[in-house]
Amino acid sequence: MGSKPVNAVSSHLKSSIEEKVSEANKDTNVKAIVLMSAIPGFFIAGADITEFKPKTKTEDPTTRLPSRLEGSTKPIVAAIDGFCLGGGLETAMGCTARVATPNSRLGLPELNLGIIPGWGGTQRLPRLIGVKKAMELMLTMKPISGKEAHDLKLVDQLCESNQLLSTAIQLALSIDMSKNIKSLHRQDRLESKAELEQIFAHLEKMVDPRQPQQRQALNAVKAGVTRGGDEGLVAEEEESFNVHKPTAKALQHLFFAERATSKIPNVPAYNKKINSVGVIGGGTMGGGIAIACLENGIKVTLKEVNQKFLDAGLERIKNTFKSKLERKRINQKQFDAALNNLTGTVSYEGFQTLDCVIEAVLEIVDLKKSVFKDLSKHCNKECILGTNTSTIDIESIASDLDCRDRIIGLHFFSPANVMPLLEIIRTSHTSNEIIAAGLQLSKQLRKTPVVVKNCVGFAVNRIFFPYGGAAGFLVDRGVHPYRIDKALKNFGFGVGPFRMSDIVGLDVGVMTSNSMKGAYSDRAYDGQLKQIMVDQKRLGDKVGRGYYVKGKPDEEGIADLIKASQNRANNPKPLKNQNEFTDADIQEILLLPVVNEACRVVQENLVYRVSDLDVASVMGMNFPRFRGGIVAWADVFLGAKKTFEKLDRLYQETGMEMFKPCEYLKKCADNNKSLESGL
Ligand code: 3HC
Ligand code: NAI
Repeated sequence: MGSKPVNAVSSHLKSSIEEKVSEANKDTNVKAIVLMSAIPGFFIAGADITEFKPKTKTEDPTTRLPSRLEGSTKPIVAAIDGFCLGGGLETAMGCTARVATPNSRLGLPELNLGIIPGWGGTQRLPRLIGVKKAMELMLTMKPISGKEAHDLKLVDQLCESNQLLSTAIQLALSIDMSKNIKSLHRQDRLESKAELEQIFAHLEKMVDPRQPQQRQALNAVKAGVTRGGDEGLVAEEEESFNVHKPTAKALQHLFFAERATSKIPNVPAYNKKINSVGVIGGGTMGGGIAIACLENGIKVTLKEVNQKFLDAGLERIKNTFKSKLERKRINQKQFDAALNNLTGTVSYEGFQTLDCVIEAVLEIVDLKKSVFKDLSKHCNKECILGTNTSTIDIESIASDLDCRDRIIGLHFFSPANVMPLLEIIRTSHTSNEIIAAGLQLSKQLRKTPVVVKNCVGFAVNRIFFPYGGAAGFLVDRGVHPYRIDKALKNFGFGVGPFRMSDIVGLDVGVMTSNSMKGAYSDRAYDGQLKQIMVDQKRLGDKVGRGYYVKGKPDEEGIADLIKASQNRANNPKPLKNQNEFTDADIQEILLLPVVNEACRVVQENLVYRVSDLDVASVMGMNFPRFRGGIVAWADVFLGAKKTFEKLDRLYQETGMEMFKPCEYLKKCADNNKSLESGL
């Protein structure tokens, strides 16, 4: 048995399989071998990531488990029921044949950990299903079902769970080893030479240079296809040895960080399911929250101020499901189920029986206060009372109500049915049971929770508020918004800060940054560009015009507005000549203050672990995951000392408080500790 709970290949599992196969090969009574897991739901989910250590030398690839299995003189059939990933699939491909249940999940997700398949996956998979499909599986990192694997001939036979062993035995006994061609040496499923040239030319353009593991996987595949499987294994080993260690470290850190966020001390088990949610406000966020609930089988009661707004809100939700149906993202049954679970109201009728209510009305304190006063009257005494406020101090919303222990921040990110993060905010009164309920809701919505204590902006908006400030600061010192966007795109963000502002809406941005400036005025940059844009009705994509026009650059249109902003800032001296700014300069000026603010959040003890901020930045702000998250990026790619020195230099040069390293960061640098250490 491997490492629990996913049957990962530990060194123990590897040696015990090798031992058993060797014994079976020697035993004249044994005709064939079946490799099957004793852990339900998991064939093998890959190598044990907790055992990963940086390699100090290359090894002989023929000593790897799959090669050992492939060397067996007796047939070995892998009987797969459940997850068969990474080293698990590589092990199965080393077997003579494979039987699987239709719903098993097979894949090579190694690139997601910054490494490449290192047990022959880059060699055997292309030879079993062709290079095109094999590279697709590696690059998307998404597993396929047993049924799809059978269609691709990766799996030889399909059967139901209860017939797995008998089917595998039958197949194993039917194999004639004298006619068997090892996966590593198959030629028949590889594409033709001409096709391969085209495929490789396309893949050359596809691999992301910022993620070296992609290029290395491609190199290994190419080597095998051109020089043969045996030499390919050696090439794979070399590429594996040379993987970019910081990227691997960052991605592996994130793997465990994502799984740690729901572990909150003293939170009891929550044994109930949340079956019904009331959503107050059917606008952008309320609509998205309702869709997220409906998609996951939760009944929704949507409340609006009047029938007109209610109808409009319900219509938007219905249209989303209609479009999903048309695009075949859901079937008719799922469509009907979702819409049957949706009701609308303009009163609080029926709220008495709801399990949870999420308020998503306008960002106005008094309005929110009055909603919660109503909720305290109309909901039952166990109902979870959530607010989706993005900036308002949650303590202030219900300071005088006796339901304070049930009030919790449930902060979704726009679009709420798409973004994978749920920020859960606890006030000083929120009970542990309600935190457990919030975690349960995130699980039912298939979102990753990050629990944070109450403060203005919570985790994500708070740590990222200097990002916009630093962007405005640079524009006022002569760096063009499009140049900044390009640098941040090159860093790995989907879009840069100015394009993002257009998407979110500049009026919303002004409101949020005013809130943040109010709370953290010492380190805010009082740039005027956004306000000037709003005054000119350039509100972003919703009106077709912002920093960009219909998503396209508008150099001329914004030139005077940039000048106006610089004038209001008294035309500060540029930090250096425009064209002397490298991408790295711009990226650091925008992102190091975010790292600094994240460190302040740690210093103020607002999160349960530093790595929660990494997860929050990746899932809430689309911070590039291959950089490990905002704090991990600084830690792994710069180190605490260098991060401190760079920030301190910027602070000395500019006098801007946002660059002044906070106490926690300084302590980490002084004590030679990582920023993730929490000290
Ligand atoms: N090694 C060690 N621990 C692992 C692990 C692995 N390969 N995969 C999962 N775990 C741990 C998780 O950290 C978690 O631990 P925790 O309970 O202490 O937090 C626990 O197992 C359960 O994991 P999940 O919460 O992710 O469970 P799910 O049921 O939601 O998902 C899964 C199961 C889809 C298998 C998911 O865990 C997964 O994707 N695992 C990683 C798969 C992977 O990347 N495999 C490739 C490994 S690298 C490799 O094989 C190299 C090879 O080429 C040599
Ligand atoms: P919106 O303006 O699109 O929708 C608000 C809706 O609330 C309107 O339809 C309005 O009619 C309704 N409403 C007002 N008072 C009501 C009441 N008493 N009862 C029922 N409905 C009422 O606003 P949006 O963008 O959806 O924001 C809602 C909340 O979510 C705000 O607190 C905002 O800060 C927060 N938020 C917004 C994000 C965004 O990207 N838009 C992201 C995360 C949070």
